Amino acid sequence: MKKKSGTSQKRVTKFLGEVGKGEEVLMEMMLTLVQALEERDEYTRGHSERVALLSVAMGRELCLDDKRLATLRRGALLHDIGKIGIRDELLYKPGSFTPEERARMNQHPEKGHFIVLNSHLMWDLIPVIRNHHENFDGSGYPDGFKGEGIPLEARVVSLADYFDALATSRPYKQPFTKEKAVEFVVSMSGKKFDPAVVEAFLKVVDKFYAESIQNFKPPADMPVFVSTTEQTFEIESEPRHLGSLREQLQHFLEQTGLAPKTQEEIQVALGEACTNAIRHSYLNEPGKKIRVTAQNIEDKVLFKIRDFGKKIELDKLQPPELPPTRPGGLGIYFMKTIMDELEYNTSHAEGNELILVKYKKRRPS
Ligand SMILES: [Fe+2]
Ligand SMILES: [Fe+2]
Repeated sequence: MKKKSGTSQKRVTKFLGEVGKGEEVLMEMMLTLVQALEERDEYTRGHSERVALLSVAMGRELCLDDKRLATLRRGALLHDIGKIGIRDELLYKPGSFTPEERARMNQHPEKGHFIVLNSHLMWDLIPVIRNHHENFDGSGYPDGFKGEGIPLEARVVSLADYFDALATSRPYKQPFTKEKAVEFVVSMSGKKFDPAVVEAFLKVVDKFYAESIQNFKPPADMPVFVSTTEQTFEIESEPRHLGSLREQLQHFLEQTGLAPKTQEEIQVALGEACTNAIRHSYLNEPGKKIRVTAQNIEDKVLFKIRDFGKKIELDKLQPPELPPTRPGGLGIYFMKTIMDELEYNTSHAEGNELILVKYKKRRPS
């Protein structure tokens, strides 16, 4: 507790130095709200402050007057306050969201609007809080505002928010380098972001990054980012263990960014491949295992399903008839229609390995 209040004290002092006289109470109250939010979500600890710093730096480049700069600073600090109303399972979810979860998450700007509605001292922040996820081309939410119809302060906070999310780590990703994050922002000029705001951003980003991100040390209690690029799962070679394997693979699949329907299809193919592997691996023989290695590579996901049974002699195998005209070839048929590549690796000294590949977008020709 001591450490926390010490931190808050420092924050208040830091921000008080930047606000006019008479605004101290308001600023203290707001920092309390920010602290309340960040207490829940350790990944975004510091996020609100950094978004405020970057937003104000951009606001200065855009020649906003002091009054508007003050509103921008306060609005940026509270932009995600509506996340207080988002349930923990969702807030901490490491994988990608289902459409329903995404819709619930996307309610946070409106929830924030209703929170600050309770104090008339914060009514001027409503446009920033409510509209910080609008896109310049009109594809954002919650109002679908377009171009200059989006309040300028909200356009600024939107970019600062996005850049900070890219440049720092999240449960689902490692931080991008400054160059890559800037490149992303620039590539979305005129689409997600206002070109004029992007220009202002380019003038201040180096200084902001050096001061607020490069030297940023994550708090000791922040969960360590676990790379999910490759994971290996092993189960006893018995069909009753397939359920737990499926669950682990689901967790892996959710982090690949593939559509839920595609994840479901891949599960069908993997279920078939693992059942085959169990059959090869001396079904039900105690101590025998099958091993699945899952890799999430840039443009594809790859699964190696390894059994430790009798070696397959590929040249003696009959090529499967597709689509199958008799029972027995169905498994391969399913796998071939779902996955983009299917290959047997027989180079292991013991057992066989079936490799299944699914491309994230189109299959390269
Ligand atoms: Fe947000
Ligand atoms: Fe945010």
